[in-house]
Amino acid sequence: MNIKDLPNKKYFVFDAFGTLFKTSEVKEALTKIAGDKTDKLLEVWRSKQLQYTWLRNEMDQYQPFSTVTKEALDYSMRLNGISDKKVFDILLPLYDTPSLINGVDTLLKVLKQNGKTVAILSNGTPSMLDNGVQLTGIAPYVDAILSVDKIGIYKPKPAVYQMALDQLTATTNELVFFSSNQWDVSGASMFGLDACWINQYGETKEGLPFGNVVELGSLLEVAGLYDGLN
Ligand code: LAC
Repeated sequence: MNIKDLPNKKYFVFDAFGTLFKTSEVKEALTKIAGDKTDKLLEVWRSKQLQYTWLRNEMDQYQPFSTVTKEALDYSMRLNGISDKKVFDILLPLYDTPSLINGVDTLLKVLKQNGKTVAILSNGTPSMLDNGVQLTGIAPYVDAILSVDKIGIYKPKPAVYQMALDQLTATTNELVFFSSNQWDVSGASMFGLDACWINQYGETKEGLPFGNVVELGSLLEVAGLYDGLN
């Protein structure tokens, strides 16, 4: 796939956390409790959150993303010797109160103006995603919110990307999937979807299998394709 092919697509499907949404900055409040362990607490929390979704997939032991997120935080706190339960009150609501990553509203608006169907495909729970879409004001531009919770399997299992095709009644070549998470881009593209890796954090390419993938620096590059078309 070439970036110039994107306007031919009909269904634009986006990962949520890290791609459309970022969790707000809470470092100040957290540092008061966790001190110099703050960065490690956050880092271990995120990596365990992902790892637990993948391990639960392997074991057929699905629990909603809110539960996995809490279990990962609990582990990270114990690992870092932090027992103050206020950390839960500071960190867990973050997934219900995200803010938008730069360029998201511009792009979604342009896609809707050009008659595209916009969807979110996320490991997040339906309530996290509903809250995020409402709070950030992008609800008018989002046609479908697809949570893995419906099938009880996490990305990057192929069944999740199949669910997106099924729920949107889209064919493979009509749809393009966007994510900043490389494991997600790997999963979607090896399943057979055209995918865009939004490398907005300047990451080194992972040693994972990739199918038909275009690498872009930001979602604004996609919006830029429509300049002058309106
Ligand atoms: C999502 C997270 C895991 O699926 O990026 O939204």
